[in-house]
Amino acid sequence: MKSLAELTELKEQAEKKLRVRKSSGKPQIIVGMDDCGIDAGAREILKKFLAEVNQRDLDVIVTQTECSGQCDQEPVVTVQLPEESKVTYGNVTAEKLEQIIEEHIVNGNILEDLKLDQ
Ligand code: FES
Repeated sequence: MKSLAELTELKEQAEKKLRVRKSSGKPQIIVGMDDCGIDAGAREILKKFLAEVNQRDLDVIVTQTECSGQCDQEPVVTVQLPEESKVTYGNVTAEKLEQIIEEHIVNGNILEDLKLDQ
């Protein structure tokens, strides 16, 4: 027989796995929000992605992450489409952000000229 604490932990683990599974079926936009990203404008990029996704009524998860390890490329944004490899873009500006949404998120075309080597 498991203790209440063990059962609670098992429940939390199951709920976490379910959340990951549910979110993994949607496209994700992940913005690097470490100090150097924020200094380079990542907060504004994150806000603009959220606004564009809402305005276009896209079923996309916009989220943030910590250090990307690519200080000189900030703001760094990773796009993860379901069943596809992650693609990371660097030095993302408002103009590039619109291209990323229109070409990659909506049409599924990777922007090879903006993509960072990984
Ligand atoms: S400290 Fe710059 S990307 Fe992490």
